[in-house]
Amino acid sequence: MRYAFVLGRVYTLSIAELFAILEQKNAALNLSGEPIKLLEASPEAIIIETVNPLPVDKLQKRLGGIIKILEIVDIVKKRQQDSINFALKHYFKPSVLKKQFLKDYKGKGQFGVSIYLLDMDLARPPQRFNNKDDKPSPSAFGEPKRLGMMIKNVLTEGGQSIRLVLPEFNALALASVVVTKNLLLQKGAEICVLAGQSAIYTAKTLVVQDFEDYGRRDYQRPVRDEKQGMIPPKVAQVMLNLAHAENGQTVLDPFCGIGTIIQEGLLLGYRMIGSDINKSAIRGSETNLEWFRNRYKIAPGKYNVEVADATNLAHLMASQKVAAVVTEGTLGPVYGSYPKPADIAKNFANLTQLYTKTFAEFAKFLPGKARVVICIPAYKKTRDAYEQLESLDFITALGYNLVDIITPALAKKLKFLRLTERGTAIYDRKDQIVAREIVVFEKI
Ligand SMILES: C[S@@+](CC[C@H](N)C(=O)[O-])C[C@H]1O[C@@H](n2cnc3c(N)ncnc32)[C@H](O)[C@@H]1O
Repeated sequence: MRYAFVLGRVYTLSIAELFAILEQKNAALNLSGEPIKLLEASPEAIIIETVNPLPVDKLQKRLGGIIKILEIVDIVKKRQQDSINFALKHYFKPSVLKKQFLKDYKGKGQFGVSIYLLDMDLARPPQRFNNKDDKPSPSAFGEPKRLGMMIKNVLTEGGQSIRLVLPEFNALALASVVVTKNLLLQKGAEICVLAGQSAIYTAKTLVVQDFEDYGRRDYQRPVRDEKQGMIPPKVAQVMLNLAHAENGQTVLDPFCGIGTIIQEGLLLGYRMIGSDINKSAIRGSETNLEWFRNRYKIAPGKYNVEVADATNLAHLMASQKVAAVVTEGTLGPVYGSYPKPADIAKNFANLTQLYTKTFAEFAKFLPGKARVVICIPAYKKTRDAYEQLESLDFITALGYNLVDIITPALAKKLKFLRLTERGTAIYDRKDQIVAREIVVFEKI
């Protein structure tokens, strides 16, 4: 079976998360943990081959960094100079459309067209499109329309009446919200082409990210805390997936704030413990989790939250069998403009002190090989440059290894990844100066 995964904006994290889940044994997802065969990849999408079919609906719910999951239908050879439309001129015959893409389509329906650009040579850094901010050539923007019209004409000539949905605002691909709102997967299809230099993969969308549900989990919670900041649920999910905890095991967030990581962990099937030094944060967590438990039908007794200082926690965890820690510790002040070097130095010094004590505390109750997945601040200087905490030796000295977020073997193949020198990845947002560096440690 061949699948394409359409990657989120911070695609390095999407790929890290995808491989973390697919290459681990997971009974609930029916995954045996076999290595994944990689066929193609770009910052837009990654194509893999598996022996057994994947549980795509469950995977889509599980993976915060994946926007769509597609099934590859065919591979069409193409000359480098051919446009997508030209290469596919004879491909979309009525029989192919009916059998492969619109099997369940009856009567009046709709279909959409999306194009994803791939680099076909994984070992070479891509010449173009190696960053999502780089724009494809202007002529490429016409391709979804040309392709869509070509398919529509084929269907109309065959006597079918069908509406065509095209990407908006000069995009090459449909946003998942457009796929959902137009009921493309229920009343037709989203036909995708993943275009490389010498081949085109045609694909059909199987499932898309439930953007509404992520919004609900973020904005509809009874308590929010704009001052301390909250981690986006998608990022919380990615971090939990990097923690390698097994279904039903206990995960701790010792800086839990109003409980975002706790709620996401519950949804993924973990038992969750949350603690925070701030009483009102814990009250917020309690209120939010009560709402969440009812809304998402979480069985009782799957979590507890309490007031505690992360630097003095071990005595509370002695009987808990914590399998992993996933947390967003304090990121320091929020800045409207780039902070002074002295301010950054002060924040890093405070964090070093806090985490020296905290990681020493974790070491008292975490078993060997247990992971700690944590966000630390990284200050965004330019689009690609960040001021990071210089060394993490003060943590490794306490009996932890720093884990590459993506294995060196995979990173060597995917030259376009945006990894830091120490093998971590940074989650940033356009207008934020304080970004989150996602770091994974493993207890020795
Ligand atoms: C960035 S917030 C975490 C937000 C959380 N991820 C969420 O989405 O709600 C950091 C939290 O760390 C807590 N904190 C700071 N120092 C602490 C300490 N020594 N022990 C425990 N919690 C602490 C703060 O009270 C704050 O709630």
